[in-house]
Amino acid sequence: MSLKIGIIGAGGMAHYHATGFRQAGAEIVALADVNLAAAEKSAAKLGIKEAYGDVAAMLKRADLDAVSVIVPNKYHAPLTLQALKAGKHVFCEKPPAMNAKEAAAMAAAAKAAKRTLMFNFNNRARPESYAMKEYIDQGAVGRINSCQAKWIRRAGIPGFGGWFTTKALSGGGPLIDLLHMVDLSLHFMGYPEPAQVLARTYTDHVDNKAFKGPWGIPDNAKGTTDVEAAAHGFITFTSGQCMNFAVSWAEMNKGEEVSVTFQGEKAGGMVRRLFGTDGLDDTAIDACELYTLENGRHVNRSINVPADETMGRTRSAMNFVRVIEGTEKPLNTPDQAVALMKIIDAAYKSAATGKAVSV
Ligand SMILES: NC(=O)c1ccc[n+]([C@@H]2O[C@H](COP(=O)([O-])OP(=O)(O)OC[C@H]3O[C@@H](n4cnc5c(N)ncnc54)[C@H](O)[C@@H]3O)[C@@H](O)[C@H]2O)c1
Repeated sequence: MSLKIGIIGAGGMAHYHATGFRQAGAEIVALADVNLAAAEKSAAKLGIKEAYGDVAAMLKRADLDAVSVIVPNKYHAPLTLQALKAGKHVFCEKPPAMNAKEAAAMAAAAKAAKRTLMFNFNNRARPESYAMKEYIDQGAVGRINSCQAKWIRRAGIPGFGGWFTTKALSGGGPLIDLLHMVDLSLHFMGYPEPAQVLARTYTDHVDNKAFKGPWGIPDNAKGTTDVEAAAHGFITFTSGQCMNFAVSWAEMNKGEEVSVTFQGEKAGGMVRRLFGTDGLDDTAIDACELYTLENGRHVNRSINVPADETMGRTRSAMNFVRVIEGTEKPLNTPDQAVALMKIIDAAYKSAATGKAVSV
């Protein structure tokens, strides 16, 4: 019998979750949102039979095996805890939570409930990332000494005065929102134990309409904007490895770049998506490269993989279903989510204090 899933949150990501769950053979039986009209509209668009304006009512359904949580970051932890308590498996959007304390409570609750908890680190599910991880796991790269994680935008603020720019609802700006490349670097490096983080955040341009993204949520003139527009930092690990990161919604960059570059003992490499001026996924250009020494010569290898304009979002949702069904290993674990949030917490603390912070 197919797995039955309910979606919580009628926003833009719901259709990727729905497509992935269905491609993996699951059935989507309901969609809930605090805004019933939004739930009804999204359910109709996605061909989901039932819409709820009350999450608790949907969670009471005994036929529901799992839920996905696709709401503003502040509600990730409470809704995940509520769903786990109701005995459901949970696929939660990134960031895992507002901070490491919340993520740890989610991880502990999943363990206690003996339910699967996974997060939508969709960039791990890109064809480029699967291919690169295979090379790394097969030993072609050796130990990765250093990584550069980048998600930099020139003009990509996802709406002014909405939940994204309100720290109490989002936890912060691009440092917490665009944490994907830090996560992907950690995934490639084998999730080493972080030692110290030194970071700086910047608020330039954060309220300048010239830096608005071509997508995102509607502006709210009376809303709050109290988050950073860019962050830069350096992470050391107890293993001796290191990573530097650059993330921005608004910064004087040439354009939008999403990449992980690394230097390993035997090979270096890069996974990258470059966006054009329209900033849209379907016109972006992906690359997956290895840098090696072969027969005494320096070689650049370009790895061809199928295009995936969803940036792994559909494949990531498929992985959640297959993990519950026991046919695939999870692309991410709750413990990794806690480790990642500890790094984000330390980066904000470092930016606030001006000092390097031990994790
Ligand atoms: N993985 C990705 O590529 C990606 C991309 C965009 C957004 N996201 C993440 O998805 C999440 C949602 O973002 P979005 O852009 O869809 O937001 P959105 O504002 O478009 O939609 C959020 C929906 O959640 C509903 N909601 C708010 N609080 C709720 C609650 N307590 N219970 C039930 N419903 C509630 C709202 O009514 C709204 O319909 C965020 O965590 C964001 O970081 C991930």
